[in-house]
Amino acid sequence: MHFEKVIVVDFGGQYNQLIARRIREAGVYSEVVSWETPLDEILIQKPKAIVFTGGPAAVSEENAPTIAKEIFESGIPILGICYGAQLTVHVLGGKVEQAIHREYGKKDLRVEEHPLFKAVDKETSCWMSHTYLVKEMPAGFTAIAQTDSCPVAAFANDTAQIYGVQFHPEVLHTPQGSQMIQNFLFEICGCKGDWQMGNFVEKSIAQIKEKVGDKKVLCALSGGVDSSVAATMIHRAIGKQLVCVFVDNGLLRKNERAEVEKVFTEAFDIQLITLDARQTFLDNLAGVTDPEEKRKIIGETFIRVFEKAAKDLGKVDYLVQGTIYPDVIESGTKNAAVIKSHHNVGGLPDVVDFEEIIEPLRDLFKDEVRVVGAELGLPNHIVQRQPFPGPGLAIRVIGDITEDKLSLLREADYIYREEVKKLAVVPWQYFAVLTNLRTVGVMGDERTYSYTLALRAVSSLDGMTADWSRIPLETLAHISNRIVNEVPNINRVVYDITSKPPATIEWE
Ligand code: XMP
Repeated sequence: MHFEKVIVVDFGGQYNQLIARRIREAGVYSEVVSWETPLDEILIQKPKAIVFTGGPAAVSEENAPTIAKEIFESGIPILGICYGAQLTVHVLGGKVEQAIHREYGKKDLRVEEHPLFKAVDKETSCWMSHTYLVKEMPAGFTAIAQTDSCPVAAFANDTAQIYGVQFHPEVLHTPQGSQMIQNFLFEICGCKGDWQMGNFVEKSIAQIKEKVGDKKVLCALSGGVDSSVAATMIHRAIGKQLVCVFVDNGLLRKNERAEVEKVFTEAFDIQLITLDARQTFLDNLAGVTDPEEKRKIIGETFIRVFEKAAKDLGKVDYLVQGTIYPDVIESGTKNAAVIKSHHNVGGLPDVVDFEEIIEPLRDLFKDEVRVVGAELGLPNHIVQRQPFPGPGLAIRVIGDITEDKLSLLREADYIYREEVKKLAVVPWQYFAVLTNLRTVGVMGDERTYSYTLALRAVSSLDGMTADWSRIPLETLAHISNRIVNEVPNINRVVYDITSKPPATIEWE
């Protein structure tokens, strides 16, 4: 199988995968490699084009990331973005200098007649983020776009097919940036656009088949999108050599275990071992009220339960992880303060006896993973599933956890979700929280003293920030009615109208 490929050389910029993604969106397969990759390893892949990303360094700094000059003699079209553009100028003998002011944010951009700007407005805008400027271009280059403070906002050498843009065409703040990337691919490099997500699936399956051969693979399935898609893809490649393990920790939503079992064993015929650890988790959590403590206990219990199962299974050759690209970035940020300790399958590699990890979704964004899932035939309720935290309902029962409280929450949450799903626009994430507050109510002629349930619904792109959803009041009224009537021991329902920040999405 051979598709056209564009190699994105990463110089440490924050948007590096986004560039690859924009190229894939245009129908051309793209992969990111480090700037330290030897040139022959890049060239052997016969890329149709090479793109240099931005990066935080300055080209003149000692030990700044750089590139072999020979890459510009390869005859392969090159597009440098931000640092990548400055590096191109620097390596080819031009001059880059520190700007008087850092140029940051959305700027007006004037573009000239050039294939890179086909169908782009002469006066458009772009996203700038740089402190260095091209002062002098190497021989053979001309400027093809300007901003007020940046006379060389884009440059070209059409004979050598080498281009550079000082701004970021890959971000949404450059409204015609995708058009520019497409122009580079189709007008300049002559790409055909022969790639779709289906090809990625086929290619990955073929690679997994070849790599795994007749060996044994283990996957911890959580029922979430990422691990489900990863498992299904591996299963498609190697069938019964894959064993999936699903831990029922008793902190799942109503019907969740049955749904996972149904999809994976009935629809896909995947070897699935369900470990029923409900009691172990409840015992370990008994009397614990501190949110961080709960998370730690759940993480540790998961590892211990899995360890036992892994011992029974014996040595496996590969361990599958559903790591996706945002996880790769997140684990790379060492300085962020810990607001909540997140753990899903963290720690597993320590207790499973395996040779190597396989991460088939490592280069993809969440919505790309969903497309892959749909390609593999996974049902919508899995592929479009809303985020669900690893510690599950334990962090949605405030205070100490008992089976009674969990089952109250399960029922109320089910009603809430059932009703919200009927809305024309379904929020990004929505769930119920059982508070540990009891209040007085009246039902029939009787006094009640029961729990208060909180409803939460948010819109968000990635969970990092979120706004509370304006669910229609009639819907909220109907949900509240249903819950207090159908779920015993809940006599009050409140709706959370706080955004993140200052609140977080989950209550614990
Ligand atoms: P917070 O509450 O931090 O949540 O605003 C942001 C997003 O992350 C989810 N979340 C978790 N996901 N393991 C996960 O996989 C966890 O421990 C965890 N804690 C929170 C949360 O549901 C929201 O989508």
